[in-house]
Amino acid sequence: MKPSTDSNKLVSIVGAGLVGAGWAIAFARAGFTVRIFDADPRISEQAIPWAAEQLQELKKHGLLEESPRDVSARLTRVATLEEAISGVSYVQESVLERTDVKRQLMEAINHIADEKVIIGSSSSGIPASAFAHDLRISPRVLIAHPVNPPYLVPVVELVPSPQTSAETVECVDSLMTGIGQSVVHVRKEIEGFVLNRLQAALLREAWALHRDGIATCEDIDKTVRDGLGWRWSFMGPFETIDLNAPGGVADYANRLGPLYYSIMQSRTEDGPWDPQLISQVESDRRQHLAVDDLAKRRDWRDQRLMEFAARRIKRQ
Ligand SMILES: NC(=O)c1ccc[n+]([C@@H]2O[C@H](COP(=O)([O-])OP(=O)(O)OC[C@H]3O[C@@H](n4cnc5c(N)ncnc54)[C@H](O)[C@@H]3O)[C@@H](O)[C@H]2O)c1
Repeated sequence: MKPSTDSNKLVSIVGAGLVGAGWAIAFARAGFTVRIFDADPRISEQAIPWAAEQLQELKKHGLLEESPRDVSARLTRVATLEEAISGVSYVQESVLERTDVKRQLMEAINHIADEKVIIGSSSSGIPASAFAHDLRISPRVLIAHPVNPPYLVPVVELVPSPQTSAETVECVDSLMTGIGQSVVHVRKEIEGFVLNRLQAALLREAWALHRDGIATCEDIDKTVRDGLGWRWSFMGPFETIDLNAPGGVADYANRLGPLYYSIMQSRTEDGPWDPQLISQVESDRRQHLAVDDLAKRRDWRDQRLMEFAARRIKRQ
């Protein structure tokens, strides 16, 4: 991706954990100067060295045109929210997934932000109207929900609240497209938006299949990894079924609609994920991967994502 030459390129990341630090890379790589703020100074301190390492890896995989050092130089740690917000055009909020924490932060931003700043929230499922309602900044707040890590997986869901202005949506669409993200518009607020609702449907069935002794965790994972996931890495569920019947999607619905209806009817009981089931799945997963190896495996995942991104960019 080419660095931008636009002079007004100053954004801020508020909350520099897993997702915030990833956003910092996505913006800096696209030529933005990025201010990084976290309520916990130890977290913001770690963010820049971590980002520098990831940038080296991106370079190795051919996913960075500039030198990692030049990109890292655009990352700055700041000590207060005021410093983070002052004079920036865009804030990517990435604090904890809690309505009270996000509301408190929005009230603080409302107090100090100038008239123009736009705020995108990384919220995974809490809609903006739950924490950004009835403030001076409300027309300039929306959800910009990424997948982790945002510098490797391009999709971002934009979800306006009823108080978000159309201009804000348009602005964030062009900002996100400009840094190389793939924008999805969620047209009405709904808990979990589109991505996590799709994931919830799949996980609901995965937990139930395991609970009922139908398949092991490994075989359920394998079904997605070596089956559904192959097509899903380049086409979605509607295109998948359109191609899976001679006459297209209507033909597919005609042939297999009754089967899917019967499956759906077999899953009417719903409760929270059961603690006993969680501990069964935990012990099953731990046989494949020890807790101490989780971080190493995350690095492995990110390497695979980089290889995948590099191959995909070559094909485009
Ligand atoms: N982890 C994921 O896979 C993922 C994916 C997409 C979206 N998200 C969303 O991104 C957001 C952040 O998630 P995460 O996984 O990075 O969590 P995290 O716990 O790694 O990071 C959250 C950070 O926010 C900081 N923080 C809390 N209150 C703050 C405040 N008032 N001001 C500044 N910093 C504050 C914390 O110190 C912490 O470092 C959440 O809304 C989450 O749902 C997460």
